Amino acid sequence: MALDFPVTPNPQPASDERIAEIHSKPGFGVNFTDHMATAQWTKADGWRDGKIEPYAPFQIQPGNAVLHYAQTVFEGMKAYRWADGSIWSFRPDENARRLNRSAARLMLPAVDEADFLRAVDEVVALDARWVPDGEGEKSLYIRPFLFADENYLGVRAAQTVKFAVILSPVEPYFENGVKPVKIYVTADSARAGIGGTGYAKCGGNYAASYLATQEAYDADCDQVLFIEPSSKDRLEELGGMNIMIVENGRIVTPALTGTILDGITRKSVLQVAKDMGIETEERRITPDELYSGLESGQIQEAFSCGTAAVITPVESFRTKDAVYEVPQPAGELTLALRERLVDIQYGRAEDAHGWMHRIV
Ligand code: PLP
Ligand code: COI
Repeated sequence: MALDFPVTPNPQPASDERIAEIHSKPGFGVNFTDHMATAQWTKADGWRDGKIEPYAPFQIQPGNAVLHYAQTVFEGMKAYRWADGSIWSFRPDENARRLNRSAARLMLPAVDEADFLRAVDEVVALDARWVPDGEGEKSLYIRPFLFADENYLGVRAAQTVKFAVILSPVEPYFENGVKPVKIYVTADSARAGIGGTGYAKCGGNYAASYLATQEAYDADCDQVLFIEPSSKDRLEELGGMNIMIVENGRIVTPALTGTILDGITRKSVLQVAKDMGIETEERRITPDELYSGLESGQIQEAFSCGTAAVITPVESFRTKDAVYEVPQPAGELTLALRERLVDIQYGRAEDAHGWMHRIV
């Protein structure tokens, strides 16, 4: 049975002045809107009790399984305000499907795709005031998630689960959008391993990336790039983005091996590149290929990509022992791909693949 999401309006919504203040400097994931969508699943009855209610703390028992065993998955997507005031999401069906792939890996229940899309559309439409205009590539970040919601310490999949969608006005994850970032490369630790949860967007993968991310910060870098640590023979992805290089004019990115996220920005960049007549390759990239390519100039550009990060140019890759500069940070292809993708998202370029979905 389809879920519906009846609305209980927030009795104390933020003032227009407060929202304008937040929009002037949103940061990333700091402020949340007036409402959230939620629904509850039980093993016995399936999904029930869909609603949109004021954004407020959940009641969580200290014995709630998610706090102990991290049975939780999430999505990240954005609502963009076009110049005419309309509000659009980007490939939301892909997020709905990926949430369910992640859920299956973590033994969480699937959310019907139509229910997922309705929850997102209805809560964004209700909080439309919170969608910033597109200046500075601001947007409303949409965070749908599922978590074990059962007061039980036995090690088994929860029999009560919550689905929620919360919203946060944001700017690109890395401040200054196109300013190139420094990447720290590590093979000492993995965020996820072969047979593990790398392809799932689950909380534990992120917690597992923090130690290496701190090493990156300590080395004056902005993000970490993981190398598969058993064979040390392939680049994987960053803590929260996919990685791409421009090698001899081609866009090359690590193949989907099950250990990395099937990024929606990744697959869109590959498509946009093809549309622009640029060759693309999804394959293994060895660390040696990266380092020698940067030194010889065969690799001219590199960038990270993801919903939060959009497309962010890379300036250098650092290891414990060496620094490899990218010959053309924020180079021609990186910026051309970025512009095309962002123009599609903000309604300034033709949406040839029908990726945009109108919410308001
Ligand atoms: N890889 C990781 C680990 C991520 O967290 C993200 C962000 O969602 C991505 C890649 C990029 O995925 P997407 O483009 O679907 O946002
Ligand atoms: C996203 O891009 O949606 C992510 O989840 C990545 C994270 C760095 C916020």
